[in-house]
Amino acid sequence: MSDVRIPILVDCDTGIDDSLALLYAVASPDCDLVAVTCTAGNVDARQVAENTRAVLELAGRSDVEVAIGRETPLERPLVTTPETHGPRGIGYAELPPARMPLSPRSGPDLIVEEARRRPGELTLVTLAPLTNVALAVQRAPELPRLLRRLVIMGGSYRSPGNTAPTTEWNVNVDPEAAGIVFAAFGADSTRPLALGLDVTERAKLLPDHLAEIAARAGCSPDGRGPDGRTNAVIRYLDDALRFYMEFHSRYDRFFGAFIHDPLALATAIDPTLVRTEPVTVDVELSGRLTTGETVADWRHVWGRPPNVDVAVAADADRFFERFIERVGDLAAGR
Ligand code: RIB
Ligand code: CA
Repeated sequence: MSDVRIPILVDCDTGIDDSLALLYAVASPDCDLVAVTCTAGNVDARQVAENTRAVLELAGRSDVEVAIGRETPLERPLVTTPETHGPRGIGYAELPPARMPLSPRSGPDLIVEEARRRPGELTLVTLAPLTNVALAVQRAPELPRLLRRLVIMGGSYRSPGNTAPTTEWNVNVDPEAAGIVFAAFGADSTRPLALGLDVTERAKLLPDHLAEIAARAGCSPDGRGPDGRTNAVIRYLDDALRFYMEFHSRYDRFFGAFIHDPLALATAIDPTLVRTEPVTVDVELSGRLTTGETVADWRHVWGRPPNVDVAVAADADRFFERFIERVGDLAAGR
């Protein structure tokens, strides 16, 4: 592995899989986690900001700047998903209240200011509705050229949706924001890398994976160690993911969890984890049944240049090897 550390800005709606992505980022020696911005989605923005800081403190990274963004979608009322991530967004887990302060900067301002401070260096990884990124690019139209890359967990480009029949959650919460972002990025080789459900639903975390992570940390899957101590990171994973796996049992008929966000974060660090195809994408904003759909023009009927590199295949095995190793070692060190 190269000793290059990639500067990464994360925008999230922490949520359970968001929290796993944050743990993976902190655990990755090839990732320089510059800052985190919070968007309303899985739970309200204030709870997202609380969860994000609490998880970073759990991982020993209370130094990372965390900013809160807009607290509602651009035009629609906020819809959250307590049935998926729990009323507070971290399943059955209990974490100590966050002690680290929130950044005085807003999320969109932080994105713009950090991109301007380090032109061409920052990878922005979005794990949430695109509200903050839309506001950022409206404030700074040059943002696509300032970022090294935009990596989006969002949309579904060849597969069924997970929210409505053809829509994916992050885009569905704020379709207008997604439309703005897909229209603003894409020219002159600023195409975002988009991981939709097509590939993120290959990242199926199973109880055996959790057992391997716990074993790597020297404890049982519920976090108890041979010395009677409880490993707080493993205990968190056990409690958060038990809720998430119960959800998947009901809705996806398997006891496991699609960990969408960690795959996106891992791909931002190492794009060889996926294979992509350039395609023109636009977002449906006025469909009776399809508002929030990411419409991909695979047959080029629109005659418009591609504006997104869509991930069409992912190496899930290689991702899980890395996820288990890095998160297990992080837990072992806490
Ligand atoms: O559709 C999956 C996405 O929606 C993930 O980012 C998950 O955290 C939820 O926000
Ligand atoms: Ca998310």
